[in-house]
Amino acid sequence: MEGGVGDYQEYAASAEYLHLLSGPAWPALRPRLSAALSGVTANAGPVLELGAGTGLGTDVLLDTLGNEVLAVEPSAALRGVLLARLVDGERAGRVTVFPGGATEVPLPDRIAAVVGMHMVGHLAPPERKRLWAAVRNGSRPARPWCSTCSPRPRPSRCRSSRG
Ligand SMILES: C[S@@+](CC[C@H](N)C(=O)[O-])C[C@H]1O[C@@H](n2cnc3c(N)ncnc32)[C@H](O)[C@@H]1O
Repeated sequence: MEGGVGDYQEYAASAEYLHLLSGPAWPALRPRLSAALSGVTANAGPVLELGAGTGLGTDVLLDTLGNEVLAVEPSAALRGVLLARLVDGERAGRVTVFPGGATEVPLPDRIAAVVGMHMVGHLAPPERKRLWAAVRNGSRPARPWCSTCSPRPRPSRCRSSRG
């Protein structure tokens, strides 16, 4: 990610609506994410959540697991919502919010799981490669890796015209 943390503006126009717009996707995602994390043990280290947004996925991690969560979020506006939603006691105590991008966060020695919901498309292929390698690196075996990705666009016919 280029520039400093305060420079990230990609969600500047939509940040105020993102929580409301994203909510309807989560009743279906919630049980699937919980199920994917079912093998994670509480003593395996923190869960790394990339692009936590307003915390809809963070909620699932906190409700499903006893682990600490390292939530990475570059947008100040979305972080504001995330922090406000975490304000009450036990939940806040288990989450560290990193103000920056996925390739900037200092990785902990151990990672219990990596979660990146609706965010992988923000990473250019070389960034993904570097991040995947860093997360896999020797002493920090990451299990499991949960992310969403958009369906591949299907080819469709279009009419050609010559002007
Ligand atoms: C569509 S939102 C998804 C938010 C949340 N994960 C959810 O599913 O509700 C994409 C998120 O990825 C974050 N993001 C964008 N680029 C990123 C990067 N390089 N590293 C980490 N997060 C990034 C955005 O700020 C935003 O919060």
